[in-house]
Amino acid sequence: DNSNPLGIMISGAPASGKGTQCELITEKYGLVHIAAGDLLRTEIKSGSENGKQAKEYMDKGQLVPDEIVVKMVKDRLLQSDSQENGWLLDGYPRSLSQAIALKDFGLQPDLFILLEVPEELLVERVVGRRLDPDTGKIYHMKYSPPENDEVASRLTQRFDDTEEKVKLRLQTYHQNVEAVLSMYEDIIFKVDGSVKKDDVLLRSTRHSPSLWNKKLLQNRRQ
Ligand code: AP5
Repeated sequence: DNSNPLGIMISGAPASGKGTQCELITEKYGLVHIAAGDLLRTEIKSGSENGKQAKEYMDKGQLVPDEIVVKMVKDRLLQSDSQENGWLLDGYPRSLSQAIALKDFGLQPDLFILLEVPEELLVERVVGRRLDPDTGKIYHMKYSPPENDEVASRLTQRFDDTEEKVKLRLQTYHQNVEAVLSMYEDIIFKVDGSVKKDDVLLRSTRHSPSLWNKKLLQNRRQ
């Protein structure tokens, strides 16, 4: 049914592994990965007024105002690639108002994956995280180290990946999570995100197997 693409949301605390799972899911199932945080960082890089404003909130670990985020995400969801291949939305919605806005646009997910990771692991994941600016790939100095010296030498760190800032991001998460979950009660699938990344993927795709299998076959045909 092309008029209604598959829609999956992935949620969880900062550094719970959303981006990592999205890399794995996209590779295998061909959904379009849309990460609110990545869209905002692209906006910052462009030097736009929205980017400048967004950075002030991100520096404090607070939610960027809806005026900036909602339209940005909606426009990306409505692009033809997301509508044709289905979408995998990461880091949105983060508040009740964002969830309601999406519903009002008629954009409802088929599945909501919630990654659960104990707090003591989150800080370790954040401070060890590195990013490859060339490929966008996510690394961790201990858990997913770079393949070779060339990659290692170009890895960068995010401006909000400090112990102090992740604690602020975590507070913001706790303030909003219950309200967001209340919007998706009937389609939430909770997954233990503390195991190895490949095992998290296996567990995440265990819910609604027919939905995933259909997507897998479509992706292989392409
Ligand atoms: P965002 O960029 O979305 O950050 P976040 O939610 O804090 O999540 P992260 O990207 O830090 O972590 P992740 O869950 O993707 O983990 P990852 O896979 O990288 O948002 C940043 C800011 O933007 C927010 O604070 C806010 O200001 C703003 N913002 C974003 N969306 C917004 C919205 N909708 N509304 C308003 N404002 C918004 O993994 C982390 C590390 O752990 C990596 O090093 C990885 O290699 C490692 N790892 C992952 N999985 C495993 C595993 N299973 N085992 C061992 N290590 C693992």
